[in-house]
Amino acid sequence: MELYLDTADVAAVKRLARIFPLAGVTTNPSIVASGKKPVDILLPELREALGSKGRLFAQVMAPQAEQMVEDAKKLRAIISDLVVKVPVTAEGLAAIKLLKEEGIPTLGTAVYGASQGLLSALAGADYVAPYVNRLDAQGGDGIQTVNELQQLLKLHAPGAKVLAASFKTPRQVQDCLLAGCESITLPPDVAEQLITAPAVSAAVAKFEQDWQNAFGVAGL
Ligand code: E4P
Repeated sequence: MELYLDTADVAAVKRLARIFPLAGVTTNPSIVASGKKPVDILLPELREALGSKGRLFAQVMAPQAEQMVEDAKKLRAIISDLVVKVPVTAEGLAAIKLLKEEGIPTLGTAVYGASQGLLSALAGADYVAPYVNRLDAQGGDGIQTVNELQQLLKLHAPGAKVLAASFKTPRQVQDCLLAGCESITLPPDVAEQLITAPAVSAAVAKFEQDWQNAFGVAGL
C-alpha cells in the first residue's frame, strides 16, 4: 500500500519522511493557503523534504475544464512528475478526460460518493480520493463509501486506485486499511497519533526505569 502525508508543512514532511515509509505528499488549496507559500516555492521544498523521491499532488483552481488543463500544466512546469488533483465536478470530469489525452496523471478529488468517484476513474483519473471524515461528519459512512468505491473500481476501472483522504482519527485509518484501501493520505498529526499513544510511551518509560534500577545505567 501507499502512505502519503496530506500537508504543506515542509518541516513536518522532513521529520516524518525519516520515520514513515512515505510514498509522497498530497496537498489541497486550503492546505496550501494555510501556509501562505506560493506553489512555485512550496512544491520544490516539499520535494526536497521528501528526499527527492516520492510523488507530489497539487490541485487545479480554475472553474472551467480548459483552464484546469492550463493550471495542470503550470503545476507540472514546477514539478514535472506531479499528479494533478481535479475536483470531480462536471467541468472536472471534462478536464480529467483532456488531461488523460495529454498523458498527464490525475487524481479525482472532493469525492463524496462511490459512483462520483467511479466516473472520474472512467474519465481517466489514476487515483480517486473519497473524503472519509467529511463523509462521517455529515452523517454518512466514509468507510462504506471507500468499500463501495473499491468494488466499483475493481469491476469497471481496474487501473485506478483509491487514495482515501480526510482522516481525523487513527480508528478511521485502521478501518479504511481493513477495508482493503490501497493508499491513504494522512495529516501529520493523525500519522503521529498512530505511534504516540500514551500507553506506548508509558511502556517504554517503564523499560527504561527497570533497566536503570537494575544496572544503574540507561543503556546496554
Ligand atoms: C484530499 O484530497 C483532501 O483534500 C483532504 O484530505 C481533505 O481533508 P480534510 O477533510 O481534513 O480537510
